[in-house]
Amino acid sequence: MEKRAQLYAGKAKSVYETDDHDLLVMHFRDDTSAFDGKKVEKLDRKGMVNNKFNAFIMEKLVAAGIPCHFVKRLNDTDSLVKRLDMIPVECVVRNLSSGSLVRRLGIEEGLELNPPTFELFLKNDAMGDPMINESYVATFGWADPEQLARAKELTFKVNEVLKKLFLDAGILLVDYKLEFGVFKGEVVLGDEFSPDGCRLWDAETREKLDKDRFRQGLGSVIESYEAVGQRLGIDFNA
Ligand code: CDP
Repeated sequence: MEKRAQLYAGKAKSVYETDDHDLLVMHFRDDTSAFDGKKVEKLDRKGMVNNKFNAFIMEKLVAAGIPCHFVKRLNDTDSLVKRLDMIPVECVVRNLSSGSLVRRLGIEEGLELNPPTFELFLKNDAMGDPMINESYVATFGWADPEQLARAKELTFKVNEVLKKLFLDAGILLVDYKLEFGVFKGEVVLGDEFSPDGCRLWDAETREKLDKDRFRQGLGSVIESYEAVGQRLGIDFNA
């Protein structure tokens, strides 16, 4: 699939048109950012690692019957995806307390959350991705109530599939963020699933294996992403 004009450049990925209007190429760069783009660094091999990680996870989700924009991996850093009309809302599920939940409620990190929580954030870096709710989404027209209900249902379905996938590799899926869009009237999972957008802890030691290593300056960021991938059975040389 031929890459055409660049359509969009985000903080870690760029998106290109192709000769097929319905398909886009998603290019994973080495750029890594945190704190709404206030901390930015280039991490060697990150684009390749996240592209292969995302392809592996998306294939598992498709196999589990979750509609995804992912079509196929094209090369080390590019994947072919369906063009979605994106819903500008982030869906977050948490199985264990961490991050902004801990800061917001002043609770301990690592508490088991049963049932898991569901949160919505508006995709708006300038405003620091503020927390919103279902009523805001309806009032401001960011999605139809039925579309939001479907996105929520799919977000929890992803939890069932991935909690087990990671746990079988000795890893806890602490929390994660998903983004959805609409393709020919259907709500479809978009964006990416990689250690950039979730929290993963070693089940035994609770060592952090995700982007918190970058946020907190713990080092060995990409080495950890790769180690998680290898535990899942991903071959980064393929
Ligand atoms: O990362 P932070 O503590 O600011 O936010 P959070 O609400 O605790 O994040 C919950 C989960 O969503 C974590 O796995 C984050 O990595 C992910 N997230 C993301 O991928 N992109 C964002 N803009 C915000 C959160």
